[in-house]
Amino acid sequence: MLSTIKDIAAKLAPRLIEIRRHIHSHPELSGQEYQTAAYVAGVLSSCGLHVQELVGKTGVVAELAGSGEDARLLAVRTDMDALPIHERTDLDFKSRSLGIMHACGHDVHTTVGLGTAMVLAQMGVLLPGTVRFLFQPAEETAQGASWMIRDGVMEDVTSIFGVHVFPTIPGGSVGIRYGALTAAADDLELMITGESGHGARPHEAIDAIWIASQVITALQQAISRTQNPLRPVVLTIGQIQGGRAPNVIADQVRMLGTVRSLHPETSANLPEWIEHIVASICATYGAKYTLNYRRGVPSVQNDPGLTQIMEAAASEAWGGDRVQILLEPSLGAEDFSLYLDHAPGTMFRLGVGNPDRPNYPLHHPQFLVDEAAIVTGVVTMAYAVYKYWSTP
Ligand code: NI
Repeated sequence: MLSTIKDIAAKLAPRLIEIRRHIHSHPELSGQEYQTAAYVAGVLSSCGLHVQELVGKTGVVAELAGSGEDARLLAVRTDMDALPIHERTDLDFKSRSLGIMHACGHDVHTTVGLGTAMVLAQMGVLLPGTVRFLFQPAEETAQGASWMIRDGVMEDVTSIFGVHVFPTIPGGSVGIRYGALTAAADDLELMITGESGHGARPHEAIDAIWIASQVITALQQAISRTQNPLRPVVLTIGQIQGGRAPNVIADQVRMLGTVRSLHPETSANLPEWIEHIVASICATYGAKYTLNYRRGVPSVQNDPGLTQIMEAAASEAWGGDRVQILLEPSLGAEDFSLYLDHAPGTMFRLGVGNPDRPNYPLHHPQFLVDEAAIVTGVVTMAYAVYKYWSTP
């Protein structure tokens, strides 16, 4: 079966590259993937799949029906949105939309999803169970997965597979990660209110800027002294505003930040832990505060059994030396984790690096993809789907 999958994928390769280049040159921002969704739906319909559009706002869902022998339902999820970045590559199929670019490889993900559907549809054998393909919008804003879930895409799903490109892994190779793949990412908004006064008379005022600096310092130090160092926490205050004049003590400071963590227990305790530190410093110096801690996406935790299937599929397809077992997770975030609240899943990393040129990171205006990765991704995903049914 592997050789059939490889043959079909190899024949489809020129078409898949054409699809990827079309999507790359027509990028759309999160929640506005209208043309991309219509294009995806067109390709899927032409393979004979049952397609539903406008799921999760601009998402697309397609099902490849199985024989019904196996009641399990496997979902394959890819994402379709691009970023507000002005592309600075010299590709002849570069973005035609000013200020919008597929700089996170979602054009490749969508193509891998489509290629997997095309290969499985052409295999000429019914799979024992049904595969549901999810083409999700708005991953970059961490909204799309929840829109899709709200529209019921996880109903009856037993397991879910996902993929993300990675420029530090060479094209043609695959990265497999057991356990945490990405971090939980939450947002923090903190307002500290003191009392204004003359810059020369601090004792008659409550200096919100100084108290804010105490809070930031205390939070960073408390991470190193009160959080388990084997369970990382990153807290970044990325924006801070306060004060009106050099000689006036500021009465208000507003801070915005992001909080990353990997371990679910750590994540659960963070809001209380942060509030405790903020409250005690503000109380000491007589300031008031409002803290708004917004949960973002949880950490992606790859299921061991499904990750084993993915690893076995990749190793059989490409040989062990083209499969990297990733020893470290990323502190980036991925809303694939929201699906994992409904069913276990695994996401693999698809290498898109090329040793013969600079490999810019994800979200870089010169981000490039080794297109050989597309067939690698399609074969790995399609064969993992096939193997899923033979694993109890
Ligand atoms: Ni991405």
